[in-house]
Amino acid sequence: EKGKLWGGRFAEGTDALVEAFSASEHYDRRLYAHDIRGSKAHSAMLAKVGVLSADEVEAIHLGLDDIQRDIESGVFPWDPAREDVHMNIEARLTEKVGDAGKKLHTGRSRNDQVATDIRLYLRDQVDALLVSLKSLRAALIDLAEREADTIFPGYTHLQPAQPVTAGHHLLAWEAMLTRDTGRLADLRKRLNLSPLGAAALSGTSYPIDREMTAATLEFEAVIDNSLDAVSDRDFAIEFCSFASILMMHFSRVCEELVMWASPQFGLIALPDRYCTGSSIMPQKKNPDVAELTRGKTGRVYGALTALLTLMKGQPLAYNRDNQEDKEPLFDALDTVSAVLGVMNGMLPAIVFRADACRAAAGKGYPTATELADYLVRKGVPFRDAHEMVGKTVALAVEKDVDLAELSLDEIQSNAPLAEADVFDVLTLEGAVAARDHIGGTAPNQVRAACERARARLD
Ligand code: ARG
Repeated sequence: EKGKLWGGRFAEGTDALVEAFSASEHYDRRLYAHDIRGSKAHSAMLAKVGVLSADEVEAIHLGLDDIQRDIESGVFPWDPAREDVHMNIEARLTEKVGDAGKKLHTGRSRNDQVATDIRLYLRDQVDALLVSLKSLRAALIDLAEREADTIFPGYTHLQPAQPVTAGHHLLAWEAMLTRDTGRLADLRKRLNLSPLGAAALSGTSYPIDREMTAATLEFEAVIDNSLDAVSDRDFAIEFCSFASILMMHFSRVCEELVMWASPQFGLIALPDRYCTGSSIMPQKKNPDVAELTRGKTGRVYGALTALLTLMKGQPLAYNRDNQEDKEPLFDALDTVSAVLGVMNGMLPAIVFRADACRAAAGKGYPTATELADYLVRKGVPFRDAHEMVGKTVALAVEKDVDLAELSLDEIQSNAPLAEADVFDVLTLEGAVAARDHIGGTAPNQVRAACERARARLD
């Protein structure tokens, strides 16, 4: 067929609907720089092993540079009839440099080419995300240190449980992001391997040097098996799995922000620049960035599900199904990189309303565990102490007062071993300071944890 790089054996042109159906250039063109980089490495290798002449490879490289400039200045003639980014660039190369361009694809297939492109592209994106995650973690550690003494409500079942410090809570977020960073760094190792040289599926009869292209492209090593190299997309699935877990974490963080910023909680203020108003209700300041992040979690899970489903029925080796890998992967990438961008701005700018936090931390008898532990220190078995304090709480509920507002007589009516010093343990600061062990919420422990977290950053 006329105009198709693969047209030799075809007697009629592609159906117009099929052309539109199978074209991917409108979304895979974002791989152009990595496609060009891969083509340069491949052609340089072909010259080294004597398959191309020095003149040919020079023409190819100059032509590819020229194409890159055309793409970046917006004058490149993208053509859906040329299907994808690879054939758009190759066909244009031949228009620009003649026969040398027709030799570029020697010993290569789009199958190893596209696998190489995606890995190179994803690797760059992963590196940017690693930087972004690190800066967010550093900012959270700084904020945690500033809020190491801020008394904050700790919940289980969203019911008041025990007081914590805001710094401690922030470090819990940071810990989630630390594991996400570990997952990302780990998947990068399996991503950073070269498929180039696998050609269509079985390798090639040219005397290629796979190590050379791998080194030029800064891959750690070559992928051993040519069938595997062109067919699997598990690296993209791993990325979407990382991204899904990251988004799940951000979604939880954002859910907390939405609650804390509501007047009913009133624990924090979000900066105006991360909120929006209402077109009808003049009083509104809505936490839209947090809500959008919570909402965008679904599309990232969707990408993971799409890729898992895409791969599950494919026999080896390459199938065109794989062209469907890109849109979900790109969407997940775009989403997490946008979310990390706004989180880097918004999270460090949260303002904790210390008085409101302290007041909220005091509601719901959060020092009841302290009272039970106090009785244990006086010799009461814990289960009995639990029962006595439960009755004491019931009395306080009935009288509508805090535990510390009960008289010593009232406390002793259920817990006879209580003495005047009982009131010392019924303070929020005392409860927090008492959790003075590694991983505990005591302010000095939070500060020590900040130091450890900072040391982990590098
Ligand atoms: N656009 C294709 C993809 O993304 C490139 C590989 C095409 N290979 C083929 N044998 N048709 O997968």
